[in-house]
Amino acid sequence: MKATLITGASGGIGKAFAVKLAAEKHNLVLVARSADKLHELCDELMLEHQITAHYVALDLTAPDADSRLFAETEKHGFEIEWLINNAGFGSMGDFARLDIESELKMINLNITALVALTHRYLQKMRERKSGVIINVASTASFQPLPFMATYAATKAFVTSFSEAIAEENRSHNIVVTALCPGPTDTNFFAAANAEPFKMKGMETPEAVVETALNAVRRGQSTVVSGWTNYAVSVFGTLTPNFLVTRTIGSFLRPKFEDK
Ligand SMILES: NC(=O)c1ccc[n+]([C@@H]2O[C@H](COP(=O)([O-])OP(=O)(O)OC[C@H]3O[C@@H](n4cnc5c(N)ncnc54)[C@H](OP(=O)(O)O)[C@@H]3O)[C@@H](O)[C@H]2O)c1
Repeated sequence: MKATLITGASGGIGKAFAVKLAAEKHNLVLVARSADKLHELCDELMLEHQITAHYVALDLTAPDADSRLFAETEKHGFEIEWLINNAGFGSMGDFARLDIESELKMINLNITALVALTHRYLQKMRERKSGVIINVASTASFQPLPFMATYAATKAFVTSFSEAIAEENRSHNIVVTALCPGPTDTNFFAAANAEPFKMKGMETPEAVVETALNAVRRGQSTVVSGWTNYAVSVFGTLTPNFLVTRTIGSFLRPKFEDK
């Protein structure tokens, strides 16, 4: 059975992808750690849209997570036509004082799991000569960010990696898109211990998903969600890194240096 696999589908942008694609009649495989939330979402989407929705409760930072997930989708006969690598988290603070275990876990989730899953499912997409991979990066990927150093670097990896493999796979009829949202109204800020940085007028996860799906239809390798975020990204890309880091560093240093 053809299906779309979405990581980090228990809330936020991942859940918005699940709701939107279920309405477009995609069968779904939903992955996150929260079994209860995934179970409820699958029941809801199956009832409302007459699709098949299966969930796998899994910590994607576990060393064998990609092979376990792949074995599970194979066992159930799912042909993963769309892969949405969305699970991720961030942190804010002075890197020297952040918990290193958590920073390393972030690299495992935001980078290692994404690369491993992309590699596994890409093999089958190549055989079928069709597929879509959406890798959720961030506007943080366009410049180094002091006091979000690890997070911004993980997302820079995701954008760079996705753009490169988008080109490699263009002739195989596989679309790869790096989706770069700006601040979006989800649990992200709470999970990153950055609740005070939540701002007004953030994008909704639904708007981010709409942007992603339009980009896939156009075969775009990178897309920034929202015009303001696009303008900020262009500024981040064109301005020398030392100027961006000085400006952001001066703004955030008082908030973090003595904490
Ligand atoms: N919100 C923003 O402002 C923003 C901006 C740019 C980019 N992004 C990116 O968008 C993506 C989605 O984030 P979001 O904003 O929707 O945040 P969110 O609401 O916190 O969602 C994160 C999702 O990832 C899952 N997850 C976290 N750790 C996991 C693990 N170890 N194994 C498996 N699943 C895990 C969470 O589910 P469980 O807790 O149930 O595991 C949840 O479903 C992330 O890659 C994030 O970096 C967000």
